[in-house]
Amino acid sequence: MRICMIGTGYVGLVSGACFADFGHDVTCVDKMPEKIEGLLAGKMPIWEPGLEALVKHNAEHGRLKFTTDLAEGIRDADAVFIAVGTPARRGDGHADLSFVYAAAKEIAGALTRKAVVVTKSTVPVGTGDEITRILLENGAPEGTSVASNPEFLREGAAIRDFKIPDRIVVGAEDEFAREVLREVYRPLFLNKAPILFTGRRTAELIKYAANAFLATKISFINEIADLCEAVGADVQEVSRGIGLDNRIGPKFLHAGPGYGGSCFPKDTLALLQTAEKEGVGMRIVNSVVEVNDARKAAMADRVREAIGGELTGKKVGVLGLTFKPNTDDMRDAPSLALIKRLQEGGAEVIAFDPVGREQAEPMLPGVTFAEDAYKVAAGADALVLVTEWDEFRALDLRRLAGTMRSKHLIDLRNVYDRADVERAGLSYRGIGRGERQG
Ligand code: UDX
Repeated sequence: MRICMIGTGYVGLVSGACFADFGHDVTCVDKMPEKIEGLLAGKMPIWEPGLEALVKHNAEHGRLKFTTDLAEGIRDADAVFIAVGTPARRGDGHADLSFVYAAAKEIAGALTRKAVVVTKSTVPVGTGDEITRILLENGAPEGTSVASNPEFLREGAAIRDFKIPDRIVVGAEDEFAREVLREVYRPLFLNKAPILFTGRRTAELIKYAANAFLATKISFINEIADLCEAVGADVQEVSRGIGLDNRIGPKFLHAGPGYGGSCFPKDTLALLQTAEKEGVGMRIVNSVVEVNDARKAAMADRVREAIGGELTGKKVGVLGLTFKPNTDDMRDAPSLALIKRLQEGGAEVIAFDPVGREQAEPMLPGVTFAEDAYKVAAGADALVLVTEWDEFRALDLRRLAGTMRSKHLIDLRNVYDRADVERAGLSYRGIGRGERQG
């Protein structure tokens, strides 16, 4: 199959490289020349484990090409994927579709024979209809079809998620689109990936419903964590106790500082916008968003309480800045709200992140960046573990405590055991671990 991927952001690049790895002939198109030049030179615009090797390997074998010229990229394509950004619009939270529609218009002018135009970007229900209209109005060849094929990739595990997906969702309105996409995904069938064919609007909604449901699980367990603290219960055991019920499942029940990233915050807001437009109440998702926003803001209060009620003049060390490990993505990271509030309260903040520094630095004015966890601890009054990078899982707690001015560990990811931390001479505060349980 000949595939054209429009947009070399996170989704486009990972999908394009994986399709090429399955033997398809893939051309990735991006408007930004510096991005394409970088990719041609083997430089990745994002940090994702395994991506660089995958891109280089397939580029060397001629299956993966990069260009800024959309018409060239689209020539003879069977499937044209739109994987451009859909950021939340400032102010109203609506998904900004201007990049998607601009791409559709260009595709219409560039196609020389009928193809399937597929949205991979997360787009509100009904966007496929609008793309169809734009294609027709701008002279796309007769028979060109529009399909929705949402992605469910997690940052940090995107290649694995692409190659061994839980499911593939294809929303299509005609047999031509279904046939082409079945061929595109045929190599994955060997991995027993189920392919679910639905209507286009349904596929568009599946993506939002999936993300909103996962966000709901997180906000739910975070509220249970607060209750655990109040009643002296342990949220990790509660998670295990409920997660062993097959109907609930064990995943996405880790209490923490609130969800961040490029998807959950944006997609829950966009879903609420769609519901409001349609006059459908969505009280659950609305609460999920409120709970998460309040939670992120409340994390600084935990730090304040743990160190005795006063932030002014205190030096707080932050371990991990990205919204989760194995990514350099800082979008809506809980560290941003935490650090802002710590600074507003008068604390000095010193931080370390294994790969996120470059992205984080411009977003965190006034923060000092250190080279490792031990340098963060030197002279600090508290250490806050915000992102559970592997290298923070086996820190030498005695060594950390030895250089701190006052000795408090606030573990927002429940990485450590209270007893181990206390034995090393630090006070411990986790999430949802009731004091009475010890
Ligand atoms: C998510 C979806 O998982 C993916 O299917 C979709 O395509 C894009 O959005 P991603 O944003 O990469 O992926 O990260 P994910 O691993 O899902 O984590 C999202 C956030 O939730 C992170 O901030 C993470 O720390 C938090 N989280 C996750 C929890 O706080 N607790 C959990 O149990 C799981």
